Amino acid sequence: MYNSNPTLEGLTKVIDPKKQGEVYGQTDNNNQSSEPERKFYIESYGCQMNFSDSEIVASVLSDSGFGPTRNLEEADLILINTCSIREKAEETVRKRLRIFDKVKRNRPGTMVGVLGCMAERLKTKLLEEEKLVDLVVGPDAYRDLPTLVGTAESGQKAVNVFLSREETYADINPMRLDNNGVTAFISIMRGCDNMCSFCVVPFTRGRERSRNAYTIVAEATDLFQRGYREVTLLGQNVDSYKWTHPETEEVFSFARILRMVADVHPDLRVRFSTSHPKDITDDVLFAISEYENVCNYIHLPVQSGNSRVLKLMNRTYSREWYMDKVKRIYEIIPDCAISSDMIAGFCTETEDEHRDTLSIMEYSNYSMSYMFMYSERPGTLAERKYQDDIPEAIKKRRLQEIIQLQNAISFNHNQRDIGKVFKVLIEGDSKKDKNDFKGRNSQNKMLVFPKKDGLKPGNYTYVKVQSATSATLIGEIVE
Ligand code: SAH
Ligand code: SF4
Ligand code: F3S
Repeated sequence: MYNSNPTLEGLTKVIDPKKQGEVYGQTDNNNQSSEPERKFYIESYGCQMNFSDSEIVASVLSDSGFGPTRNLEEADLILINTCSIREKAEETVRKRLRIFDKVKRNRPGTMVGVLGCMAERLKTKLLEEEKLVDLVVGPDAYRDLPTLVGTAESGQKAVNVFLSREETYADINPMRLDNNGVTAFISIMRGCDNMCSFCVVPFTRGRERSRNAYTIVAEATDLFQRGYREVTLLGQNVDSYKWTHPETEEVFSFARILRMVADVHPDLRVRFSTSHPKDITDDVLFAISEYENVCNYIHLPVQSGNSRVLKLMNRTYSREWYMDKVKRIYEIIPDCAISSDMIAGFCTETEDEHRDTLSIMEYSNYSMSYMFMYSERPGTLAERKYQDDIPEAIKKRRLQEIIQLQNAISFNHNQRDIGKVFKVLIEGDSKKDKNDFKGRNSQNKMLVFPKKDGLKPGNYTYVKVQSATSATLIGEIVE
């Protein structure tokens, strides 16, 4: 999820394992009827998918009489939606759990629950060995939360880490947390069948499944009617979206769902994340270029620029294949921005192979990237088959080189925008100065510009860029 540090957190809340825990801000409370008796507090880590899941959790809980609170101290139920993608992510969660444990001791009766990928990975371990938590609930078991809370209240172990082949929460209307009233996420699929050798996601999220296309369009329509102007379609691999109508057996591809959501209204911007390079089709690229409201921005994680390493990573494409894909994107959508994820120091990576990553970054001209040191994860293919043999110091240095290069590329990318006029969706006040608005252009770049009377968040305006850093474009509204 993204948070505007291009070296770490995405500008939007892109499927983003790097984002630190966040408590929601305002909710739109669309699920709330009367004043709830009990309160839940939820903190989310990891990718956008997790943030989106927390909104499903909030909806389920609010239907069973729990209301949201931002205040840890007044919560009856403390939940932490966790990420397992790298060791560090798990360490952060463990630290938080110890803090929650203290809160619990000061306030007996308070329950603590672990949700998400760590719940799935560690299962009952969290209850039995560490005794820090009362509930453990995997990503496909959120409907069961009210029952599990009851079980925990009666003093029993409350665990559901069952992974489903069907669950998509298609019918649940998420309670929008951390809400700006302008942009929202819509989960369109769950799980991942790709088995990249470094990755825990297939183990924590289970098999890939796609959500009913009509419920996606209904959710987008409802959001638009409530004033939202941008939706991001979410999945670990959105391009392999495939839903078959149970009666007509009609098949809906990702390109098709993209067009269907874009057709909701020309003023509803559509984004999506994440694309696996092997699955993004020309049809998707044509949909982006046909529709003004489908944003010209693709997050296309490369992971490595070297074919041998890509093979070890089980990414199923080579350096050349990826470069052709990038070329194709710029052919069909000349002003498209592409961003990426890179892993430094994967098993057996040589200096030359590392330099292949640097050169593919230059070739692809990424507007920004998420960059990581390889972190071995238990149970993954890489953990079982390869040795994590690159010393920490070398991983760090390679990562530093990747970050430095990306900063330079992003800076140049943004410098080239000086003098251009962009259509910008206003998202709210700039963090630094309340006299400025912030908003994004189609390429997902953040623009900051002085406010103008009559304009408010959710409006579109045109902004001419006057200067730029590696993270932000600074400009002025033009008529
Ligand atoms: N489904 C998305 C990515 C999900 S995880 C995709 O395929 O692009 C987000 C990013 O975390 C990955 O793209 C990868 O760059 C990074 N990542 C995943 N596992 C990792 C590991 N074991 N060590 C370091 N980085 C990892
Ligand atoms: Fe992990 Fe690969 Fe699936 Fe992405 S596509 S979630 S990196 S296994
Ligand atoms: Fe997302 Fe982290 Fe799970 S990246 S899918 S929350 S392991």
